[in-house]
Amino acid sequence: MRGTEQFVRELAQENQAFWAGRDVRLDPEARPDALLTQIRYRMRQGVYNELRSVELIAAWIPWVPEREIRDLLPRQLDDEHRHYQLLRRRLKELGEDPDTYEPLPEWQALFDWLVACRHRPTVEKLAMFQFAGETQSCEGFETLIRLAQDLDPETAELYRTQILPDEYRHSAIGRQTLLLLADTPERQQQAREACREMNLKVFDAYQAHRARADRGL
Ligand SMILES: [Fe+2]
Ligand SMILES: [Fe+2]
Repeated sequence: MRGTEQFVRELAQENQAFWAGRDVRLDPEARPDALLTQIRYRMRQGVYNELRSVELIAAWIPWVPEREIRDLLPRQLDDEHRHYQLLRRRLKELGEDPDTYEPLPEWQALFDWLVACRHRPTVEKLAMFQFAGETQSCEGFETLIRLAQDLDPETAELYRTQILPDEYRHSAIGRQTLLLLADTPERQQQAREACREMNLKVFDAYQAHRARADRGL
């Protein structure tokens, strides 16, 4: 059997390879006005996603029996709630009412599914959300920050200083979980399948997200 560390490294590389060119939420080639529209849409949907992340972590905490992992989750819950408040406040500063935004059904379905996964083993749940999902989120935020730098520096700074460092810590929780629990071929297979399931669902949501942003809704 391969060592757990080697497995985790390989799985991270597989996830990264899956995501090459697949985060279609922002188009780096778009004209500045179109790009700014895409960034604003990311923020509106982001308010919803951060709040659902709070709900998700709360739903999972009682179903993570491994104490050393469970003890890391309340801080993540607190972070996601702070991100929700920060993004909501920033949208208000930009003259929007974040509470009137209707979340994209595909994102709703993704979070509903994740909440319903609470009964699945910890190695699967945290492979999905923290290891696969949050790692991709970090990549996505890096891109967002880079593209927003000139168009909306204040928002870029908010993401860079107040959100991204927390998201890197969340993805590290996923890595830590796999290092602790993915120590048999069966569990490694479970973790790999869980990442695959998650990546495919998130990719569907990204495509729907971009299609709706392009329609200007
Ligand atoms: Fe967050
Ligand atoms: Fe997060």
